[in-house]
Amino acid sequence: MQRQNGSSPRLGFIGAGRVAKALAWGLAGVKHSVVAAASRSMGSAEQLAARIAGCRPAADAQDVVDRADLVFLTVPDNAIAAVAASLKWRQSVAVVHCSGATEVAVLEPAARAGAEIGGFHPLQLFADPDVALAGLPGCTIGIEADGPLLPQLELLAAALGCRTIRLPPGCRARYHASAHYAAGFVITLLKEAAEMWQTFGVSREETVRALLPLLRGTAASVERSGLAQGLAGTYARGDIGTLEQHLAELGRVGPDALHLYCELALRSIPLGLERGGYDEKRAEEMRALLRVALEG
Ligand SMILES: NC(=O)c1ccc[n+]([C@@H]2O[C@H](COP(=O)([O-])OP(=O)(O)OC[C@H]3O[C@@H](n4cnc5c(N)ncnc54)[C@H](OP(=O)(O)O)[C@@H]3O)[C@@H](O)[C@H]2O)c1
Repeated sequence: MQRQNGSSPRLGFIGAGRVAKALAWGLAGVKHSVVAAASRSMGSAEQLAARIAGCRPAADAQDVVDRADLVFLTVPDNAIAAVAASLKWRQSVAVVHCSGATEVAVLEPAARAGAEIGGFHPLQLFADPDVALAGLPGCTIGIEADGPLLPQLELLAAALGCRTIRLPPGCRARYHASAHYAAGFVITLLKEAAEMWQTFGVSREETVRALLPLLRGTAASVERSGLAQGLAGTYARGDIGTLEQHLAELGRVGPDALHLYCELALRSIPLGLERGGYDEKRAEEMRALLRVALEG
């Protein structure tokens, strides 16, 4: 990748949506040079460029490729391959996409023209670019790249206050699917709890208000003590009596609720064992009760 005066690369963005705005504004804010942005609509490119001195909104995505040393292809996942294939790349340019699940190989047309290719996936929700930008420090960016592009992307992540993990080729769908366990699926579990609380007259809003501090406390506990030592409650203690009460009651709620509970409980027992809360004999008693409930 060519660098201006041997220093940091000139950055360009194609697809001026939520991720592009947050990254471009964040990187420009720490003195990186964002030189051009293009999008499907000129309005989006102008919005991105308006907050960055020296950034030109471009009507044609090719202008971004031609002016930048490193291009962020921040279009929706299903457009990445087609946009990459539609542009004329060169040896002295690098291009990355920001998708979690999409393989970097979709950028192959750029690689064939000699460009470096990679992935730069921020593990953060980007519902609003300003909110996401404020929340970026401390986040992790999944990076996939080889050669000189790798340290360059690591420097950009560090400039945003982010940590990095390296993703090997071929793992992205698995990596992205499992990230849901710390994001959307947590919301799904809160929804399950709210449905249960509704049966004894507590509204969804009240449930969320009541459970959010518990969720924050749980996250803080994991942050402080790790997964096993951060676990608390029935499956940390190996509390058979409480487990039996839960199973009896959830059996009355219905098979779906019981099934979900048992699956999660079975997966909690290894953590309880790891933290030393009980021995294998107790774990097996608990597993047996859960399996019977699952089969019944
Ligand atoms: N949102 C998240 O939480 C999140 C988190 C991590 C990674 N990502 C990844 O980041 C990438 C961008 O996602 P996003 O959330 O920023 O999406 P987004 O807000 O929908 O923005 C995508 C932008 O791409 C533009 N676009 C669409 N088709 C285009 C085309 N053919 N040529 C040029 N521009 C085009 C859109 O155009 P106009 O606005 O001009 O119409 C839009 O501004 C995706 O790969 C996504 O998986 C998203």
